[in-house]
Amino acid sequence: MKALVAAGGRATRLRPITWTLNKHLIPLANKPMLWYVFKKITDAGIKDIIVNVNPGEVAEMSKALGDGSEFGAQISYIEQRGGAKGLAHVVANAEEHLKGERFLFFLGDNIILGSINRFVDRFQKENLDCMIALSRVKDPQRFGVPEFHPDGTLKRTIEKPKDPPSAFAVTGIYLFDEKYFEAFKTIQPSARGEYEITDVITWYIQNAKTGHEEITGWWKDTGTPDALIEGNALIMDDMPRETFCVHCDVPEDTQIQGMVTIGNGSRISADCLIRGPVVIGENCEINSSYIGPYTAIGNNVKIHNTEVEHSIIFEGATIDTTRRIVNSLIGLNATLVDYQRTHPKTGHRLVIGDNSFVEL
Ligand code: DAU
Repeated sequence: MKALVAAGGRATRLRPITWTLNKHLIPLANKPMLWYVFKKITDAGIKDIIVNVNPGEVAEMSKALGDGSEFGAQISYIEQRGGAKGLAHVVANAEEHLKGERFLFFLGDNIILGSINRFVDRFQKENLDCMIALSRVKDPQRFGVPEFHPDGTLKRTIEKPKDPPSAFAVTGIYLFDEKYFEAFKTIQPSARGEYEITDVITWYIQNAKTGHEEITGWWKDTGTPDALIEGNALIMDDMPRETFCVHCDVPEDTQIQGMVTIGNGSRISADCLIRGPVVIGENCEINSSYIGPYTAIGNNVKIHNTEVEHSIIFEGATIDTTRRIVNSLIGLNATLVDYQRTHPKTGHRLVIGDNSFVEL
């Protein structure tokens, strides 16, 4: 089987971070969001992965994510042609790679904590034509939603209904057979002008053998910084204990509590307290600071005299402040320091990117 991963789109609500970085490359526990998607797909035995990216992003994405050798897989990148016409169209755009295949379609902003092996195995063993993964949610109107017949069988799936017919979301993990392209030809753009993946699924429900399975441990990036920080924490909770490891020398007096990873070449001073789960990258410098639970710190970050907790600090950032930093996203090479050090008399001095959110 092959897999197609959707990793395009603009993610405007995550600006300014997404002005310079495709959101699927945003680090969660110091690995790009898509790393976890590739891991689940390859763990399920699928080793041929095609990644749909925005026009002009092939070089950036392949450089950041590699060719799949890390997973014993082959990953290739294709541009999304013809504009943003909906997720069903994203698959149609990959027809030359998927024609005649049974394939997995995985939305790159969906993360599954458990395994997808059972889901894929059932599709194959029962020789289903389509299979969808459902998750119970509080706000189904924000998702594709299944409607069931009274006997519990699927009737159809509807995209973001105002009045949801069930309490489930259709998650972004789908399996289709080679009839996908035939189904796509029968659907029309919806009222919002998109070819909806839910309409293709409805075609399968009405014309072919479609299975469904409820899954738990589903995280979906809802496009806000808070959701990313929550995803970062969920992944750390899910990381096996043995994957945490301190790879550098740390002074005996440094307090390290719980599960902590520190990368090669990082220097942590003796008066630091690091309370896991925490992931710290390579060549960081951390002095006189408290690093609290669910904090991920990228490579080459400098932190001095600071308390930071439940946050994602991107590569190359510098933080030196007496204020406590919580629930924050600090972007690539950003600097966060106390105002006295930059402009003594006139108060806060700020350079803030478009659509930033700053609480002083
Ligand atoms: O996550 C599950 C939901 O995903 C489903 O319940 C919905 O039925 C499905 O339509 C989809 O809804 P979203 O509103 O979340 O889709 P979104 O536009 O955010 O895009 C989902 C992923 O696909 C995301 O990783 C970005 C990528 N994408 C999106 C568009 C619009 C592309 O690669 N190209 C695109 O043109």
